[in-house]
This record gives sequence, structure tokens and C-alpha cells, in this order.
Amino acid sequence: MEKRIAILPGDGVGKEVSRGAVTILQAVAELFNHKFHFTYGEIGGAAIDEFGTPLPERTLNLCKASDAVLLGAVGGPKWDLMPGHIRPEKGLLKIRKELGLYANVRPVQYYSSISGISPLRKEVVEGVDMVVVRELTGGLYFGKPSERSVQKGEASVVDTLFYQKNEIERVIRYAFELAAMRKGKVTSVDKANVLESSRMWRETAEEVAKDYPDVQLNHMLVDNAAMQLIKNPRQFDVLVTENMFGDILSDEASVLTGSLGMLPSASVSASGPYLYEPIHGSAPDIAGMNAANPIAMILSAAMMLRLSFGLEEEAEAIENAVEQVLDAGSRTRDIALFGTPFLTTEGMIEEIKAALLDNEAIL
Ligand code: NAD
Ligand code: IPM
Ligand code: MN
Repeated sequence: MEKRIAILPGDGVGKEVSRGAVTILQAVAELFNHKFHFTYGEIGGAAIDEFGTPLPERTLNLCKASDAVLLGAVGGPKWDLMPGHIRPEKGLLKIRKELGLYANVRPVQYYSSISGISPLRKEVVEGVDMVVVRELTGGLYFGKPSERSVQKGEASVVDTLFYQKNEIERVIRYAFELAAMRKGKVTSVDKANVLESSRMWRETAEEVAKDYPDVQLNHMLVDNAAMQLIKNPRQFDVLVTENMFGDILSDEASVLTGSLGMLPSASVSASGPYLYEPIHGSAPDIAGMNAANPIAMILSAAMMLRLSFGLEEEAEAIENAVEQVLDAGSRTRDIALFGTPFLTTEGMIEEIKAALLDNEAIL
């Protein structure tokens, strides 16, 4: 198989973990006889520095001309005081919008060998296997107006939570399709006791549910969901929610696995290309230190092989290699118990690559 993959490393640890995804994909290409063409593009702070804009036309065109996009992370203290429209994060929001990436799929998986790293008890996190489906191109992140003003000397500010009904429907439908292939349960999370947008969200979920008689739907208010996620996470199969609620709940959910550095994601559209990125950010506190966990990014590459290219065996080979190195005790600092040894980012990438090559020799 021959595919064009756009690589957008971005900023901070985004650059370090992207290298890991490319290394692993190159190994997969060799092992399974595929040709992956990697083309690099700038986004975020790196693009602001070079081109004065967080998403240059060239990067957008590159993505549109590719079969899939892999993105590291954007942002960092260097650009934190820039005005809203030229912040690094604006580049990420724009690429999601331009590519029509309406659903962001964030699997949360329990790994028995690192269960001890979660601050939650093993009995609580054991067997967690859920997916957060986050609406990605609407809601509070994109509604207009979003601005400040001063009237009669009084400063005020507004952000808007806006949805068209079809935007709510398509992401909920995606969640039902996914649940139908998994454990058959959708939890729709909203704030319907307060927000009109949430009441429409809830109604829409009920309507969509009629088309999926084998999938069970329940509703949960977002504050309760934040609590239930750490109290009884095994109750969840597919959790679907508004853009900002999903952003917050998925970082929280990473604690079930043990670290933000473990969670991959896929962002899907009606017609492709899809975009794959870890859920974490540029981690300024550890950027440039060869200390970031590359697993979230490497698992995002596995999701790409499965969802964009239909390469199930190759995706599983990566996932198995990750599981194998964790079982063997390899750790980056974020998933190492205090006082125990850990690898660098590069070290972990090499271990995963070695496990991948090793497994293939056995097959
Ligand atoms: P963050 O996700 O970058 O980091 C939060 C914490 O998790 C930090 O302590 C960090 O060291 C740790 N962490 C994150 N990824 C890790 C990894 N792979 N391995 C080990 N530890 C990891 O969130 P933040 O600090 O709130 O944000 C920093 C910057 O990143 C901001 O500019 C923010 O806008 C941006 N950001 C970007 C994305 C993205 O590009 N998708 C996502 C989130 C945040
Ligand atoms: C994420 C990030 C982004 C978001 C930011 C950087 C715009 O937190 O991908 O989760 O809020 O969507
Ligand atoms: Mn986030």
C-alpha cells in the first residue's frame, strides 16, 4: 500500500513525539511492505515564528492533499501573550474546522502493568475500556460573537455556545455507530438543567437512539460525569459530549490509564483526510528534555493505520509492541513509580521499535 502522510510536529514535545511516530511507521512500512511518504508542515508557534501565522496556506494544502495527517502538539509560553487570532492554538482550531473534523475519538484503555501509576485504586481502574467522543468543530470554541468590548468605560466579554442541530446529530450518530461495534452503551453528557444547547443535545440523542435499538442510551449531567469518571469508570462505554466538556473530561479520563502521555486520538470528517494527535499538549515543563512519553503519539499512528488505511494487522502490531514494552517494565518518567528507573523519549521509541521487529520475527 502507498500512502501520503502529512506530519505536523508543532511545538514543544510535539516535535519529540512526532519523531517517534515516524520511526515506528517506517518500521511498519518495512515489515509489511508499504510505502509511506512523509511530508512535513508547520503549525502553531513554529509557524508563527517562520510565517507569521499559526496555519500557513501551504500546511493546509499539504493536509488536504494527504491521505492522513499526524499532529504533535501546539503552543507554549513563548506565544502565550499573543492576541487570540494569532495564537498557536488558533492554528489547531482552524485546521480542525477546515478539514471538517467534527468528531474527536479518544480511547481510554487500562494497561494492567502500569495500573499502579494511577492515583486511583486498582479495583477502580481495572478493566477500564471506554471512548470519549468529543464534538470538535462547534460549541463554545467556535461560536460568534467571541470578543471583548468597552461600553461607557465598562469592559465586558462574550463567548458563544452555538450549534446547528445537524452538527449535534452527526457526532451523536458517530457515537452510536461506535457503541454498536463495542459494548452497546452511549452516555450522552450535557448540562441540560441549565443550558438550552444541552437541552437540544439531549433531545437529539433521544431521536438518534431510535435508529439504534440495540444500543442503550443514558444521559448524565457534566458535573456528575466528572465525578462518576473517577468513582466508577467501568460504567462507561462510549461517552459523547460537547467540545469543551469533552476537552476537560478526556484529560481527566487519562488519569484512569495513568498519564496524559498515554492517550491517542483520531479526528474524523465526512470525507477525509482524518487527523491523528495525542490528547496532550506541548508540555512546556518537559519540552526539549527528551523526557516526554511518546506512546500517545505512537498509538495515534496505530489509529491512523486502522481507521484511515484499514491496516488492522499493522495497527495491532504497534499496539501489541506498546503493551509488550510496558509489560516488560519499560517506563518514561510520567509512568514510572517514584524512585524507579525510566527511559528517555528516544529510549522508549527504540524499545517499541525493537518489540515490533521482534514480534514480526516470531510470526
Ligand atoms: P499539556 O498537556 O501540555 O501538559 C499537562 C501536563 O502533562 C504537564 O505536566 C506535562 O508535562 C504533562 N504531559 C503532557 N504530555 C506528556 C507526555 N507526552 N509525556 C509526559 N508528560 C506529559 O497541557 P498544558 O501544560 O496545560 O498546556 C501547555 C501548552 O500546550 C499550552 O500552550 C496549550 O494550549 C497547549 N496544548 C496543546 C494541545 C494540542 O496541541 N493538541 C493540547 C493541550 C494543550
Ligand atoms: C486539545 C487541546 C486543544 C483543545 C487546545 C490546544 C486548542 O487542549 O486538543 O485537547 O482545547 O481542543
Ligand atoms: Mn485538551
